[in-house]
Amino acid sequence: MIKRSAKLSVDGKAVIELPILEGSLGYDVIDIGQLGGNGLFTYDPGFSSTAACQSDITYIDGEKGVLLHRGYPIEILAEKSDYLEVCYLLFEGSLPTAEQKVDFERTIRYHTMVNRSIELFISGFRYDAHPMAMLCGLVGAMSSFYHDSLDITDQQQRTISAHRLIAKMPTMAAMCHKHYIGQPFIYPDNSLSYAENFLHMMFGTPCEEYKVHPALTKAMDRIFLLHADHEQNASTSTVRLAGSSGANPFACIAAGIAALWGPAHGGANEAVLNMLNEIGDEKNIPQFLKRAKDKQDPFRLMGFGHRVYKNHDPRATVMRESCDEVLSVLGLENDPLFKLAKKLEQIALEDDYFVEKKLYPNVDFYSGIILKALGIPVEMFTVIFATGRTVGWISHWNEMISNPYRIGRPRQLYTGAKTQKFPYSQ
Ligand code: SDX
Repeated sequence: MIKRSAKLSVDGKAVIELPILEGSLGYDVIDIGQLGGNGLFTYDPGFSSTAACQSDITYIDGEKGVLLHRGYPIEILAEKSDYLEVCYLLFEGSLPTAEQKVDFERTIRYHTMVNRSIELFISGFRYDAHPMAMLCGLVGAMSSFYHDSLDITDQQQRTISAHRLIAKMPTMAAMCHKHYIGQPFIYPDNSLSYAENFLHMMFGTPCEEYKVHPALTKAMDRIFLLHADHEQNASTSTVRLAGSSGANPFACIAAGIAALWGPAHGGANEAVLNMLNEIGDEKNIPQFLKRAKDKQDPFRLMGFGHRVYKNHDPRATVMRESCDEVLSVLGLENDPLFKLAKKLEQIALEDDYFVEKKLYPNVDFYSGIILKALGIPVEMFTVIFATGRTVGWISHWNEMISNPYRIGRPRQLYTGAKTQKFPYSQ
C-alpha cells in the first residue's frame, strides 16, 4: 500500500502514480524507478534535484547551514571530538566507547607503514609531478599490494581495507611531498597521534628531532575532521559509482581522488590561495568581484558558493575560528593573506550579486590559509583534503556494498543523428 505518491500525467494522458519515500530528515523523494517502463526518463544533468541513493551517514541542510555526521552536528564534533573518533563514527555508525577508541587508534597505528615497493613506485615519478597525480597512482596501486583484503563480499576484508586506507593515506601523502621537495621519506612514528604523525612525516628529517607544536597538531586534526565526509558530493558519488561495478576499494578511492582534484571541487583550496596571491591587495578586490560576476569571464570567486549550502557552510565558520587560533599562536595575526581573505569575504557578502545568488564562503575558503600557516605547500592542499575525505569515501562505499545494490547505469536524452544509410555502396 503506497502511503504517499506523486501523480504524473503526460500530454494530459495516462496518469502514472509514483511512490514517495520518506527520510528521517530533509527532503522526501519520488521513486521514479518505474518511469522508464512508460517510455520516459527524468533529466537532471547536474543531479541538482536527484537523490542517487539512500544513506544513514551524513545529513546536510543547505538552507539552514546544518551538517550532521550520524546525527552529530559538525560544530560539536569539531569542538569535542577528534579525527579518528569521527572516522570510527562514520565507518562503524556510532561513537566508540573508550575501549573501542583505544583499540581503533591502535589498529590504525598498526597499519601506518607502507610496503617498501611503494617507495620505489613513487620514486619513478618526475621530481615535479603534482602530488595529486602521485596520490591517485599510489592509491590505485594499493590493490596490487594488499591481496588479502579484496573480497568485497567479506565485511572483515572491507573493514581491513578501510583501516589500511585511513592509516596509510597520511604516510603516502607525506611521501608525495618529500618526493616533490627531494627529501628522504620519513617513516611513521607510532608513538604520535594521527595528525602529529602526519606533520612529523611532512616536516621531519633524518638529521634532527622534529617536535610538532600542539596547537598545530590540533589545527591539522581539525582540518582532517572538517573534510571527513559531505554526503553525495562529486567525489563520493564517483566512489559509489565505481564501487557499484564491484571494483576493489582501492580502485574506488583512486577514482574519488581523481574527481576531487578539479578546481570546482577539492581543488578549490589550492585555487583560493592562488586567487588570493593574484588579488594581492585589498584595492584589487573590486576588479576581481567584477570578473566573478562577468558571464563572459570564466573566473569565479574560488572558495565561494556551493551546490547545497545556500547559507553559511558550517565548516567554513569553524575553519575561520581555527584560522584565528593558528595565526595568533604563530604570531601571524597580521598575515596579509588572512586579512585579505577576511576583507574579501566581508565585501563579497555585502555585494548584491553574491547575496542574491546566496554565495557564501565554503570549506575551501579558509582552509588554505591555515594550511599555508602550517607550512603546507599549496600543491599539497588537495592531497590534505583527499586524506581527510578518505574515511567518508570508504564509509559510503562500505554502506553501499553492505546492502543490496545494482550497477549504476544512468540513461540520456539522445540528440544525435537518426538512423541513416551508409553512403558508400562498396
Ligand atoms: C567543495 O558538493 C560538496 O559537498 C563539495 C564539498 C565537499 O565537501 O565535498 O563541499 C567541497 O567542492 C566545495 C566547493 C569548492 N569549489 C569552489 O569554491 C569553486 C567556486 N565555486 C563554484 O565553482 C560553484 O559555486 C560550485 C561549483 C561550488 C557550485 O556550482 P553549482 O551548484 O553548479 O552552481 P552554479 O555554478 O550553477 O552557480 C549558480 C550561479 C551561477 O550564476 P547564474 O548562471 O545563475 O547567473 O551562481 C554563480 C554562477 O555563475 N556562481 C558564482 C560562483 N559560484 C556560483 N559566481 C562567482 N563566483 C562563484 N564562486
